[in-house]
Amino acid sequence: MLRLEKINVSYGIIQVIYDLDLHVKEGECVALLGSNGAGKTTVLNAVSGTIPSQGSIYFQNQPCAANDPSVHYERGIVQVPEGGKIFPFMTVKENLLMGAACRDEAWEKRFETLEWIYKIFPKLHDRSNQQSRLLSGGERQIMVVGRGLMALPKLLMIDEPSLGLAPKILLEIYETMKVLREQGMTILLSEQNVSQALKLCSRGYVLENGRIVMEGSNEFLLNNEHIKQAFLGM
Ligand SMILES: Nc1ncnc2c1ncn2[C@@H]1O[C@H](COP(=O)(O)OP(=O)(O)OP(=O)(O)O)[C@@H](O)[C@H]1O
Ligand SMILES: [Mg+2]
Repeated sequence: MLRLEKINVSYGIIQVIYDLDLHVKEGECVALLGSNGAGKTTVLNAVSGTIPSQGSIYFQNQPCAANDPSVHYERGIVQVPEGGKIFPFMTVKENLLMGAACRDEAWEKRFETLEWIYKIFPKLHDRSNQQSRLLSGGERQIMVVGRGLMALPKLLMIDEPSLGLAPKILLEIYETMKVLREQGMTILLSEQNVSQALKLCSRGYVLENGRIVMEGSNEFLLNNEHIKQAFLGM
């Protein structure tokens, strides 16, 4: 579904992503793992077209006309940004509807999709008429994932859903993402939390200083000595 070939990204004169190759098959859940500053968000931004990149991005075997986020979005590449960014003075329902506002197909089906999301995330249904600023950190994170789903994505990219969340809430979020995986959603997940991410994803890439240093199945990565030392504190 998604294929990146030799992607390079620079901010001004500073290069932060080097010759990155990555692919995600339809229905697959793939992790992009790395510590702070490794370049995870930059890769997701390159895929959604919100920052310029060099190299090739193919989506459903068609090249992605470079660097126009609206084209990538229209084709079904949807990014859930890091840090649970919300419209604080709009209600939960209004926040969710915003997710459907820019894709014609999604807007037409918005009430149907809303029902589906309320079924997956009943908490959002309970709070639907409250201003979103009143949600807890974990509930916000669930809402931003729901908002991404409102666009009826073909590929959903979720950027560090565990950021700043207590372990119990984090487990809850991962449980809800499991439901999405079981429904066949194609997901590219950026995470620092390697053990959580690899419970959800079947495959992962490890990014260090803008380069993929390792890739493999969840089992391979979880048993790898370098991963154990660098990310799992073992
Ligand atoms: N807009 C920008 N201008 C200049 N440098 C940037 C910009 N955004 C990111 N960088 C730099 O690019 C590198 C990769 O950053 P990026 O945000 O992609 O990392 P990350 O893996 O998502 O980190 P985190 O886990 O902290 O979110 C870092 O060195 C960062 O300082
Ligand atoms: Mg990031």
